[in-house]
Amino acid sequence: MGERLNGIQEVRGSSPLGSTIYQLKMQKEISVAPMVGKTDRHFRSLARILSPSILLYTEMIHVNSIIYGNPDTILGFNEEELPVALQIATPSRKNLAPAVEKIKNFKYSEININCGCPSKAAQKGEYGIVLLNKPKTVAEIVSTLKENFPYTTISVKTRIGLGEKASLAKVVNFIETAARAGAEKFILHSRTAILGLNTKKNRKIPPLQYHMVYKIKEIFPNLKIVLNGGVKSVEEIRNHLLHVDGVMIGRAIYQNPWFLTELETLYNPNFVPPTPHQFLNRAISYIERESGNVHHSKIVKHMYNFFKNRRGSKKWRKTLNSVTKTDFDSHLLQDTLDYILS
Ligand SMILES: Cc1cc2nc3c(=O)[nH]c(=O)nc-3n(C[C@H](O)[C@H](O)[C@H](O)COP(=O)(O)O)c2cc1C
Repeated sequence: MGERLNGIQEVRGSSPLGSTIYQLKMQKEISVAPMVGKTDRHFRSLARILSPSILLYTEMIHVNSIIYGNPDTILGFNEEELPVALQIATPSRKNLAPAVEKIKNFKYSEININCGCPSKAAQKGEYGIVLLNKPKTVAEIVSTLKENFPYTTISVKTRIGLGEKASLAKVVNFIETAARAGAEKFILHSRTAILGLNTKKNRKIPPLQYHMVYKIKEIFPNLKIVLNGGVKSVEEIRNHLLHVDGVMIGRAIYQNPWFLTELETLYNPNFVPPTPHQFLNRAISYIERESGNVHHSKIVKHMYNFFKNRRGSKKWRKTLNSVTKTDFDSHLLQDTLDYILS
């Protein structure tokens, strides 16, 4: 094992930014997970109001969408969203070259490769979790990205096994191969993926095995290892950070975006969260600013959970429903918030 780690250290030593990169990698990191249908640039812009520092991931974007889609729609984001990591889905490096040229026009903080999605589409398209069985293919994707983005973190998101049982040996070999090719950071959903289950069940049924992720960090002390899966509180995060370099959170943030303000205090203990009215005013400014580019319903659809589970939340939901169907009326939103807070 010692030899293995030395190998990775050598790769590290020859990185273009040398020790600076190494130091940055050792910082603890909290991030919002990539979530298709959720973490588009509008949700990210709203999330950024509640946390100036947290790392935000895009939804998974397939390499063909990057090649054939409108680059501004597929890849565009607002500078305020930074730091933002782009997550791509690709079965190999074959089609990567034209995609890379498009990605170069956008200044993403990190590029992440999806090696964790268990959906039928991913299995058919040979991307996502099936790549856990193809470490060499992943290494080729990583090295192509690293050649084109030498100063950008290249990361990989995967799970702790494929099938019922976690497989430390498989994951270790996978990580080692990808790290030798230039991947510096690994995000591990602390569950296996069971291919017979649908994606939703695959986020629930395979048990969480955090000790496996801790173990992987022990094996790779020089790589940045980020734990993901089922994390719901600052206390849990603090505990995980005793063992790993970062924690990624998905559903707990989308379901309760105000959780972001608690996470921000981990970066910045003096952070003063916006009041609900301040949040809403900034959200409204964003909607108005974007009105030339996008129908406001595309932004409003992410606002349901911002005032959920409190008195008046039913009225908030109703207001959002009606605002979606009419011309944008910011007063309706403000009046409803007044009602909720009264
Ligand atoms: C609606 C939804 C969409 C998701 N889409 C992606 C995706 O595009 N890429 C990805 O790597 N994981 C995706 N995931 C998985 C999450 O990134 C994360 O690994 C998983 O939800 C476990 O973290 P959590 O328990 O904090 O939610 C998705 C999860 C959800 C709920």
